[in-house]
Amino acid sequence: MIRDALYLAHAFYFRAEGSRCQEIGYVDLKRKARLKNHTLLFFFLALLTVSCGNASTQVVPKPATSAPLQALRSLAQARGMYIGTAVNVDALQNEEQYREVLAREFNIMTPEVSLKFDATEPERNQYDFAEGDTIVAFAKAHNMQVRGHTLVWFRALPSWLTAGKFSRSELMQILRGHIFTEVAHYQGQITIWDVVNEAVNGDGTLRDTIWLRGIGPDYIDWAFRWAHEANPQARLFYNDFGGEGSGRKSDAIYSLVKGLLQRGVPIGGVGLQMHIGIDSYPAPQAVLANMQRLTALGLEVQITEMDVQIQGDRRPVQTRLALQAQVYRDMLGVCLEVVGCTAFVMWGFTDLYSWLPGPDAPVIFDRDYRPKPAYFALMGDLDSG
Ligand code: XIL
Repeated sequence: MIRDALYLAHAFYFRAEGSRCQEIGYVDLKRKARLKNHTLLFFFLALLTVSCGNASTQVVPKPATSAPLQALRSLAQARGMYIGTAVNVDALQNEEQYREVLAREFNIMTPEVSLKFDATEPERNQYDFAEGDTIVAFAKAHNMQVRGHTLVWFRALPSWLTAGKFSRSELMQILRGHIFTEVAHYQGQITIWDVVNEAVNGDGTLRDTIWLRGIGPDYIDWAFRWAHEANPQARLFYNDFGGEGSGRKSDAIYSLVKGLLQRGVPIGGVGLQMHIGIDSYPAPQAVLANMQRLTALGLEVQITEMDVQIQGDRRPVQTRLALQAQVYRDMLGVCLEVVGCTAFVMWGFTDLYSWLPGPDAPVIFDRDYRPKPAYFALMGDLDSG
């Protein structure tokens, strides 16, 4: 019943787009979570028949002033999982509406840039956790978790590091110090870390990075061991893109993490980034199989950075948004099927602040913070079963 109502509501949102009905569709959908099943369908059917004149808009509060409803997050919580987003610290600090939607919809978030190497150790041994601390404080105030992202990556490195000439033992000392300081700083506050990010190439070989060149392939083992030493309670992830489904890269990631486990390296999970598009995404069945083989190793899996690009063809935008919604629905559906899939995190929530350039619209709220079809698709998934 809820599912049917959501589909109707979804259709209504489409119909109303571009008119003042849009606001009615949005607000009343948010109230969905508080309604009893048997009244829902009737309610939305009634909505579909109302006119879009003044009388209807007057009775509906504006999104910005409505009470927090915790829509997606309360549904996710009922399913025992996290639903989240990357967080842009500037928007968090400066935009009320950004903060409202963030706290209302999500129960986990990932600092988009604030915990990367260049942000946290801009000068050697001089740490700056101001942005990270702001995000962690917001999370605490709103009962949200934080994914620590990321300790070892080949991008976002400060120039003192990339321009310096360091011996192997110096580089190990630098990396150990960095991991130890950052993880220890957030002891008790951040318990999920992307320890190593994007270490594997598309062909399954290890990526040529400052860490591989300077330390050797065992930099990955060391990174996990040091992070564990800094916080033995933390759940430590390997995170990558393009290895979500089947293929050489996902096989290589599987072998990598299996090897880590065999050597007793304290890895706890694999993050599947899921930066995809409506015409380029892994088959859901392949993602399911991959998640199943990873969790069979005793690891958690999380979708960590999902966004779905819609640009690049001439189909009407509503068609593309509907396809996008289906892709979001399919991937969340896969995660819901796998007991060890513990989080579904998107790389941003409003198209206004997506990292993807140009006119794309890859996430679930539009630039005016209106929920898109993908939002309702996720809600439908979380409400089903
Ligand atoms: C991206 C951020 O979104 C951008 O703002 C930044 O300029 C570059 O990094 N995979 C990751 C993320 O693991 O850290 C990246 O984030 C996106 C791809």
